[in-house]
Amino acid sequence: MNKWLRALGIVVLVIIIIYGVIAINLYSSVGRFPTGATRPAPAIKTLIWPTIGYPELVAPGSAMNAELYLPGATAGGSLTATLKPVRPELSGLAYALNADASTTGTSERWPRGTRFGGRTVLRVRFTVPAQAVPELYDLSVTRTVGGRQVSDMQPHAVSIAPPGQGKAFTFVSLSDIHVHQRNISRFMTPQSNKGITPDGTPVFFERAIDQVNLLRPDFAVMLGDYVRAQSYAGEYKPEFANFYKSLARFRVPVFMVPGNHDVYWNGVNGAEVYEENIGPLFYSFDAGDAHFTAVNTNQWSAQDRKMMEKFGTFVYPRKWQGQVLGAPDERKPKTYLGQLAWIRDDLAAHQAAATRFMLMHHDPYRPNGKAVAWRNERFAGLFTLGGGGSGSTALKELAARYRVAYTLTGHWHSDYIGRIPWLDHQGYASFVNQTMVTYDEGGMKDSYPGYRSWDVNGKDVTGYTYLDTFHSVPIYDGSVLNGMTDLDRLDRLAMTLARGLPGPGGSAFYLDNYLGEAMDARGLIGIFPAAGSHKVANGELYQAVPLPSNPALELLYIKTRVGAGVPGPNATTPGDPARVIVTVE
Ligand SMILES: [Fe+2]
Repeated sequence: MNKWLRALGIVVLVIIIIYGVIAINLYSSVGRFPTGATRPAPAIKTLIWPTIGYPELVAPGSAMNAELYLPGATAGGSLTATLKPVRPELSGLAYALNADASTTGTSERWPRGTRFGGRTVLRVRFTVPAQAVPELYDLSVTRTVGGRQVSDMQPHAVSIAPPGQGKAFTFVSLSDIHVHQRNISRFMTPQSNKGITPDGTPVFFERAIDQVNLLRPDFAVMLGDYVRAQSYAGEYKPEFANFYKSLARFRVPVFMVPGNHDVYWNGVNGAEVYEENIGPLFYSFDAGDAHFTAVNTNQWSAQDRKMMEKFGTFVYPRKWQGQVLGAPDERKPKTYLGQLAWIRDDLAAHQAAATRFMLMHHDPYRPNGKAVAWRNERFAGLFTLGGGGSGSTALKELAARYRVAYTLTGHWHSDYIGRIPWLDHQGYASFVNQTMVTYDEGGMKDSYPGYRSWDVNGKDVTGYTYLDTFHSVPIYDGSVLNGMTDLDRLDRLAMTLARGLPGPGGSAFYLDNYLGEAMDARGLIGIFPAAGSHKVANGELYQAVPLPSNPALELLYIKTRVGAGVPGPNATTPGDPARVIVTVE
């Protein structure tokens, strides 16, 4: 008897030791990828706002602001700006502006806790010409003092809105792009090469951008996870470079927030690369009468963000779920510090806005308030990793107290919408979680690549669901809303635009729509012979710009509505698209 007890004791002891060794290995920094590689040269240096990920929306004839980081600089000197359209057809067009005024002060665009937060910057005001073409522009700013010149440029930094645009606007939300390297498939994280060309171009992302450009909303928002950085040492840098390169394809301005993959430390510190190239990790902006607050839900320590490889099999950082720091008591906004205090004050200062949005990567609500994007994950059924962070209650508290109508999120790669009443019971805080853009994991999945399309008019917000009460708009025909989608076979884009007959030079646009809803498209844009007036059938000409390179030609901007098609029931069976033929004379 005694012998058996002793044997049992030894077995239990051995199990405890094995468990302990595995647990210590999983949680420890053993197997960490090398860190401390040189970061890419920063794209945000002197011109620190507006940026590619935090652009500025301006009306023709109104003020355009910029912030310059020039340590020790005083106001004044000669300050000029140049706006050049992003669209290659308009190359040669440029607006040269002289500053109306400049002052020094703390950055108004980079909050404390971000890279330039609390720094003294030179704030400069320009005026956009009243006849400026409504388009997306690269912005260059030059400062000359005593013969010394400093210049800097940010691509896609300024969007000049159509004149007279007021409280009504549209935007599209995209999430989880996951630009990656080829051949990164690993145990438990299969990734095909389908979405990445041999030269690294992210084709799934570029197709999504094309759908956005076809809709041509006033702007887009992206909700994080632009890279993967979670398979092999040193991936972050090349993935980020390819992601950044693809941003050039957008023809609308894009507001971005960081996801967990964007702040991982794999070779380089992703959080730093992000702020040196995209913009602040958190910030806010206005559009029409609405206010948007962009939140960083990745407030983990550098130790927690470092990539590790365990047992030659699992690659992960300690933390990939949501966390927002600074709430000693999450139920009491008065106690908040840091980013949470800044969000509280930003929302409080914008209570007069017609409506309020928050943008962030991790959903603090889904499902039913339980915030799965914040919790720990079970690992091999034994260990918990990945989350357990704080802040989800604080974010829900802020949304309810400060009347945030919509909180847009990604991370979970599928659609979900939930809501809680505002504290004043005058409305609801909706938490709108959305699906991914990439789908390189392949296989059968209960979600599909998509985007949301938002129509905002004062406090009325519509359009962000597709066919039912919570789904995103599919990027591909054959996506299955309630069932499994064959990700390996998705190929037909849900909306396609072609230019062709009838008429010399192909004076018609063919717009096909496989979606089961009518869609408004504003991106029917092409070069036509210049004429005093054009006759457009089945569409509306809303803008005509003589080509700078050849005044005998004009760039015409046409919008139209295409009716609902019949979507394909699955990825292998094509649907029956609705077609609108827009002709131009
Ligand atoms: Fe994520």
